[in-house]
Amino acid sequence: GKLVVLTCGGGNGAHCLAGLSAMRPKIESRVLTLYSDEAERWAVELDSGLLITVRNDDGSKSLIKTKPSMVTKDPQKAVPGANYIFFVVPAFAHAQYLEAIAPYIEGNTVIVGLPSHAGFEFECADLLGEKANACTIVAFESLPFVCRLIEFGKNVEILGFKDTLGASTLKGKRCNVTQSVLELPQYIFGDRPKVRRVQNYITTILMAKFIVHPSLMYGKWSQWDGRPLSEKPLFYQGIDKRQAELLSGVSDECVATAKAIEKMVPGLDMSDVIHVFDWYLNYYGEQISDKSNLMTAMRTNKAYDGLDQPMKEIEPGKYVPDFTYRYLSEDVPMGIVPMKGIAELAGVSTPFLDEVITWCQSKLNKEFLVGNKLTGKDLKDTRSPQKYGYNKLEDLFSGNLNSFRY
Ligand code: NAI
Repeated sequence: GKLVVLTCGGGNGAHCLAGLSAMRPKIESRVLTLYSDEAERWAVELDSGLLITVRNDDGSKSLIKTKPSMVTKDPQKAVPGANYIFFVVPAFAHAQYLEAIAPYIEGNTVIVGLPSHAGFEFECADLLGEKANACTIVAFESLPFVCRLIEFGKNVEILGFKDTLGASTLKGKRCNVTQSVLELPQYIFGDRPKVRRVQNYITTILMAKFIVHPSLMYGKWSQWDGRPLSEKPLFYQGIDKRQAELLSGVSDECVATAKAIEKMVPGLDMSDVIHVFDWYLNYYGEQISDKSNLMTAMRTNKAYDGLDQPMKEIEPGKYVPDFTYRYLSEDVPMGIVPMKGIAELAGVSTPFLDEVITWCQSKLNKEFLVGNKLTGKDLKDTRSPQKYGYNKLEDLFSGNLNSFRY
């Protein structure tokens, strides 16, 4: 029989994944979307199929016509029989989907965060309870493509693919899935990106690039005088020396945390956690024209052409920064705060990260950090390990989380 792949979500990435899955002969592709009236709106388009427009590297376009078999908002219809359940939504929506699917999960199910964002495993273990032990949790560091919806339910565009994409797996004690669980995502993606197995789930958190957005936001806006700007500054290519120093400092702290953990946990390989400058050189090598340092690499990275600051237009031609955008609302509670939580468990001090979080939390009107400790009253709104009661480094590798494989 066919493998049943369920895509949770109804946005840019969900359209692409459901569409690409439906193209593969060995897959039955279903969609579960809980948000607003998305399921109804997509279902009426289903018979006419979904068009994926792929922009190729040489500028040409390929068209893919495809057709998922089901779009519903009813987890009771979507979940039974699903072998793989992909979460392709912003991280704040993960909890809602986990709660909806939990009653119908049958076991030997592979749950995939695409992307996972930090703390995905903690949240799965928490909300699936006993059932998590019968699942394997896969965490991808990012989305495999840059994509955007052209017309809901009808047409989505893939603007580019990553070359490689890291993923970690965490297999529950009672999960009897025997196949290599990263083969199916690779089968769906096709040639690109190449899925690269990362040894453990803490690495996927510390290697991910959540640090870029909050660090750059802080560096840019913490000394802003509050006066509206007449245009939107470039986000990445506008990076200055101070922003680059902050980002580099935060990245040093992630690498230091990884090294400390490697010493403390025998058998753990954290070597995929590298400095953000090295990461830019590895991932964007060809597209960067000045590789002198982190600042010049980001300023001259062609992949960032035209990407500007998240701004709100308060009156015509007058812009102020948008602190509600996901660069802060997603990448702080489900990015750098869980990172800080892991550093704390590893006993690594993080002055740069603390400085960035302190400013970001004030913009979000939250309290996560008090001084340099994660004891704020709003920790419940994050996915840091401390929220789930993991208070020692060993806790990350025990209990529900004890069965990670090398
Ligand atoms: P999106 O912006 O298309 O997500 C919107 C979808 O999320 C909606 O269609 C709905 O299904 C769901 N949603 C929105 N508000 C909701 C709410 N209040 N409650 C429940 N569900 C709600 O997301 P996209 O672009 O597919 O990205 C998914 C993830 O991938 C995000 O974390 C994003 O940061 C990341 N990502 C996206 C890239 C892209 O090119 N689109 C590139 C790299 C990463």
